[in-house]
Amino acid sequence: MAGAPILFPRGREVVLGVSAGIAAYKSCDVLRRLQDHGFLVTVVPTESSLNFVGKATWQALSGRNVATSVWENSSDVSHVALADKADLILIAPATADLISRLAQGRADDLLTTTVLASNAPVLIVPAMHPNMWLNSATAQNVQLLRQRGMTVLEPDTGRLTGKDSGIGRFPETARIISEVLQITNSDAKLLNTKVLVTAGGTREPIDPVRYIGNRSSGRQGLAVAYEALRSGAEVTVIAGDTDYFELEGARVIKVETAAEMLDAVVQEFPLNQALVMAAAVADAKPTQGSVEKIKKDELQQIELTLNSDILAQAGKMKKAGQIVVGFAAETGLNSLELAKEKLNRKNADFLYVNNVANGAIFGSQDTSGYLLSSDGGQEAFEAVDKHDVAKAIIKRIGTRLERVNG
Ligand code: CTP
Repeated sequence: MAGAPILFPRGREVVLGVSAGIAAYKSCDVLRRLQDHGFLVTVVPTESSLNFVGKATWQALSGRNVATSVWENSSDVSHVALADKADLILIAPATADLISRLAQGRADDLLTTTVLASNAPVLIVPAMHPNMWLNSATAQNVQLLRQRGMTVLEPDTGRLTGKDSGIGRFPETARIISEVLQITNSDAKLLNTKVLVTAGGTREPIDPVRYIGNRSSGRQGLAVAYEALRSGAEVTVIAGDTDYFELEGARVIKVETAAEMLDAVVQEFPLNQALVMAAAVADAKPTQGSVEKIKKDELQQIELTLNSDILAQAGKMKKAGQIVVGFAAETGLNSLELAKEKLNRKNADFLYVNNVANGAIFGSQDTSGYLLSSDGGQEAFEAVDKHDVAKAIIKRIGTRLERVNG
């Protein structure tokens, strides 16, 4: 590992506030669906909501610590840190009492304090008895919150707890999720899709201390994995040598050599709908790796053997309905022609070719190149962030999968 740690763009962190309505149990499903869409969720329940759904449930579902008061776990759950981290605060269900406290700008528990301390968009999903919703006190509070820029959904109309019915029902999860996607600018294009991404360089051992490697940081592959998660895909990353990263929500398989990467791809690719081969696989390895450290006077020559081409192998394994994306690192003037030929030879659906002359692109956050498509399309990128290329790749995978799956 080398270089600065890889940081990912914002946009995945949701604070899910839960107040004391019977609909709190429905929020368990909202949390799950948020995770399906690639969001990372911290639940902040009000103390009295724990009468409906307990802390253990929220902790188990979110995989994160849960607190209701600013005084709990104060070392790791600071309201300011939570407020800063949030890309969206979703309050579901919001009771009349919580709406009233928010309207007054109170800060008497962790949830209201976090809302007050945050600049993130706030989406409020009310659920209460029709009389409480229609009460002019609530109506004025809702109006005030809307004037302050918060989004307050209209509750559904229908049967409520007990014999009553009317306006005040907790909306269907799908309506809440679609509102969240709109506010966070997410597209859910790869929902229920499994995507396999290789990232980083391989290391081919010469002896116990030396290896043949390359300058890949893994940034491009990890950007693709991140954008796939943001589009709702289930993501597996096969990571070779990369800069340090943490990518919550992705399954990561660590490998070292090209042979290990090949084994992992052969095993995992059939379980996925798309493979993005962003790894910089070493083209060759020492024919005979030595178990003993080689003395320097025996180092003048190292005999090499070519590694298998993993992308080409995946191209051969590819079944109908699967998409393969390759990369090419070229330095010459005719790099576009070479890349088109590479795309066809390796049976890829898309190939991103970047110009790596003079060490450009490797280890950097920027890239310039072309995204080529097997149907002849080509899109140019000039000094863009690797996430822009990643987004374009994810978009194309989504569109192509839609087409092949009807
Ligand atoms: N690749 C691979 N297995 C290898 C070598 C490369 O899967 N043994 C993949 C890379 O992950 C990338 C693509 O092939 O997606 C292009 O790699 P590149 O090194 O640019 O091209 P090569 O096919 O190795 O051709 P050449 O070195 O002759 O340009």
